[in-house]
Amino acid sequence: MAEPLSPEQYSATLIDHFERPRNAGAMPDADAEAFVTNPVCGDSLRIFLRFAEGRVAAASFLSSGCPASIATSSAATEMVTGRTLEEAEAFTRDDYATAVDGLPASKVHCSVLAASAVRQAVAAWRAKQAARA
Ligand code: FES
Repeated sequence: MAEPLSPEQYSATLIDHFERPRNAGAMPDADAEAFVTNPVCGDSLRIFLRFAEGRVAAASFLSSGCPASIATSSAATEMVTGRTLEEAEAFTRDDYATAVDGLPASKVHCSVLAASAVRQAVAAWRAKQAARA
């Protein structure tokens, strides 16, 4: 059974991102993607990025995770869009947790997925660019 969402545990912002995830779904024309798994719980996240003129033009995600990981992934796709590669990879798990108005102590690790996935997707894009040069 799905984990119940408690307003006492989760912020209204987190619940909103969980119930109406932004940029959810695969991106067939992505320039780079990354798949990460949380070794502790087994939850996973695949993030897709498209780039234009040195910036993230679009971001989307597929998640098999808890509400906190879905919400922080949703927030991450909004936050990285329009950012330079350097800005996108500089976001930390704390930035994504702050974007959903914080995480309960037991869920702090859940924002790691978004931070790791964004960094790996940017790294994959850089590697692709370097291979073309
Ligand atoms: Fe696994 Fe949240 S419990 S990412």
